[in-house]
Amino acid sequence: MINRPQSLLVFATLAGGLFIAFLASASSEETQTAIFLPSPLTDQDFLYDGAPEQSLVELGRNLFFDPILSGNRNISCGTCHDPAFGSGDGLALGIGEGGSGAGPQRVTVGPVTGRVPRNAQPLWNIGARSYVSLFHDGRVEALNPADPTGTIRNPAGTDLLNDLSGPLAAQAFFPVTSPIEMAGQYGENLIADAAHHEDRRQIWENLAQRVAGVAEYLEMIRAAFPEITGAEDVDYSHIAEALAAFQTTAFRSDESPFDAVLRSRNLSLISPDAQAGLRLFYGAAGCANCHSGPLLTDHRFHAIAVPQIGPGKGHGGDMTYLRKTGLPGRTEDEGRYRVTGDPADLFAFRTPSLRNVFLTGPWGHNGVFASLEDMVRHHIDPKESFADFDPMDVSLPNLDHVQRLVSRGSALEFGPLEDTRRDAFDLRDGWVMSSPALRDRIVAANSLSPIVLKDEEIGQLVAFLGSLTDPSAVNRSEMIPSDLPSGLHPQPHVQMHAIRH
Ligand code: HEC
Ligand code: HEC
Repeated sequence: MINRPQSLLVFATLAGGLFIAFLASASSEETQTAIFLPSPLTDQDFLYDGAPEQSLVELGRNLFFDPILSGNRNISCGTCHDPAFGSGDGLALGIGEGGSGAGPQRVTVGPVTGRVPRNAQPLWNIGARSYVSLFHDGRVEALNPADPTGTIRNPAGTDLLNDLSGPLAAQAFFPVTSPIEMAGQYGENLIADAAHHEDRRQIWENLAQRVAGVAEYLEMIRAAFPEITGAEDVDYSHIAEALAAFQTTAFRSDESPFDAVLRSRNLSLISPDAQAGLRLFYGAAGCANCHSGPLLTDHRFHAIAVPQIGPGKGHGGDMTYLRKTGLPGRTEDEGRYRVTGDPADLFAFRTPSLRNVFLTGPWGHNGVFASLEDMVRHHIDPKESFADFDPMDVSLPNLDHVQRLVSRGSALEFGPLEDTRRDAFDLRDGWVMSSPALRDRIVAANSLSPIVLKDEEIGQLVAFLGSLTDPSAVNRSEMIPSDLPSGLHPQPHVQMHAIRH
């Protein structure tokens, strides 16, 4: 269980200077509370000390928005990490391959096999060195945090190419291997076929050659990596390093009112409500026990009983959905446990950074909370919030045409899901919450103890979260290239009306 400290009224800087500020109490019964604010972010907190080579960044910028990295050339990294939607997609569970459109407007156009099982993570400050693990479950992770270039635990094991700069570059190997996100379905293209056979080396090799086969890209790669002489020298690690360098600069965001407070140590730069919320966050409400440091995350994993919706990761132990419907699917998402095998990690997810959290909804690892206030209230009493949760409140995009892999003689091919099985298919989204046994397991794993907060105090916490919004993060569509070396249309398309000048 988490301690919620209450002690002195101290305002500390990590630079060693320590001074005491007497903060006005939010309410008369509230006594003096110690507030240790983190030190502000600096260039040195980021990869490349915040300034990677421009040629590398420019290569990464084009690749990030170029559908060339997807099997069917129809989706880019930027489709799900859209600079106009908080670097996510604004959906609880997004639509990958087979969709069209940007942000919450995205719809399915072709047949899909299912949903992306987790909420697209925002990428704010993802180039900070403190990110030693990536994904909601940290499955791409530098095993020795002091040596990010050392062994990286990852889902491809030793297939992952060597000599990467760290986990952020390693992460960029994976979206392209997922049939549902970027590769496409078996039979549609060579990359999808390799994905079906889990031949990741083949996927990366194909993509590297695809990119290096575009003369303008090869030129850019040679500018960024002088040791490369011809297309045959290019491998996916060059693509991954460029994507990492780009993300480091593109999504850096440390110009919020909260940053101004960290730099000046002057609380009056945020509203009185936000100040009261800050005191709760770092004091009685205990938020900073997990949302700590300048990124407001401890980079650790905690089970806090967030309700589960959607298809799950397919690797839980529960077979009831399969038995009931005959359709494949193990619907619970066991989170960090699937990475470590440690029962203490069951249903635990990485503490998210709260930077720009006003822009990154819906919230939770699967976007179950459409309201930020509900997400905060969930923390006040996780078990009660879990019990009160109604899956009908979550809106998931329609999947208009569902297909599934069937065997015809000795061949495997896709066919439309039979109408008679559609209801059974849709049951999957709400299966966990309709299963008393699965509900009990999630609640039993919860490690966050309840606290008592008044409605007014919850409002103050939300006001504090608002002070974490960097105005420049509201819409960064300017970073989307207007055209690409591949000649494909950048994804997402820049929506001119959405850009604020
Ligand atoms: C179909 C949507 C989709 C596409 C396309 C996509 N992502 Fe993601 N991204 C996600 C989702 C969902 C997660 C969380 C997955 C999980 O935890 O299992 C994620 C997680 C990440 C993370 C980890 C963030 C963190 O806080 O740990 C990074 C970095 C990232 N994506 C970068 C990329 C890059 C680079 C590309 C292109 C090569 C890409 N993504 C393509 C949906 C997408
Ligand atoms: C025990 C550690 C812990 C404590 C204490 C904690 N949180 Fe969290 N918080 C988490 C984890 C873990 C998640 C993600 C859970 C998930 O998605 O399954 C989360 C998610 C969130 C989110 C959603 C962010 C997003 O991008 O989806 C918000 C907002 C949030 N917490 C705010 C708070 C506030 C405010 C407090 C204090 C009242 C608090 N947290 C206390 C661990 C904690």
